[in-house]
Amino acid sequence: MTTPVMELLRDSTAELHTSAEANEFQHQLGSGKVDKKHFSRYLEQLYLMHKRLADLLNESKPANHAVNHVVKDYHLDLSCLSKDLAYFGQKPDGASPLKATAKLMESMKSTAQNDTAALLGYLYVLEGSTNGAKFMAKALRAGLELPEDAGASYFDRYGDAQRERWTAFKTAMNELDFSEKERDSLVTRAKEIFHSFGEIGTELLSEN
Ligand code: HEM
Repeated sequence: MTTPVMELLRDSTAELHTSAEANEFQHQLGSGKVDKKHFSRYLEQLYLMHKRLADLLNESKPANHAVNHVVKDYHLDLSCLSKDLAYFGQKPDGASPLKATAKLMESMKSTAQNDTAALLGYLYVLEGSTNGAKFMAKALRAGLELPEDAGASYFDRYGDAQRERWTAFKTAMNELDFSEKERDSLVTRAKEIFHSFGEIGTELLSEN
């Protein structure tokens, strides 16, 4: 029997998740002890990658069955990130990509053109990250003295619906009959964005 695609994604990226947890910048986020400038720069990177992915998923929905089956409006909602950026006095339009973010955004574009269903590999990682990010939101609010509803709202963007939405994502993905080639591409894209998070953290911390 074929391994369900969500099991394949989890198992193929388990090591990368462990390195993400150990990443210095992620560690700072998780402990709430992060420089405000680095944090708002990070929000910009999250905004840019989410915006690019949301636009591409939205464009791909009508013609791609897998994307249409999995993607819900809340996956495309950038309102928390916009609100968090506004809290730090920034406008989404003013966000500028770090090298690692620009590279990821380009790759998302070519994936949409050549390998559309694999966009869901990126979405897997961003959605999966809501599992640990709930705790991060709490630490960030305490560490950066943020209000409940802005500054780090992205990290708890689904609130009480998080479990239910994560389960719905897993179910929808497992219902699809991906080809071997598509399964490989999903894993490749999931691994790629995990690496991008590492690179973004390193680049951010090397900025003054
Ligand atoms: C301090 C850093 C982090 C902590 C403490 C953390 C913690 C967690 C926890 C507790 C889970 C839930 C496991 C479960 O319920 O089975 C989880 C799942 C997940 N996290 Fe993280 N995480 C961190 C960073 C990240 C980052 C940076 C990413 C990627 C951007 C990420 C992506 C994921 C994914 C994709 C899953 C779902 C795994 C699956 O398929 O079940 N995490 N994380």
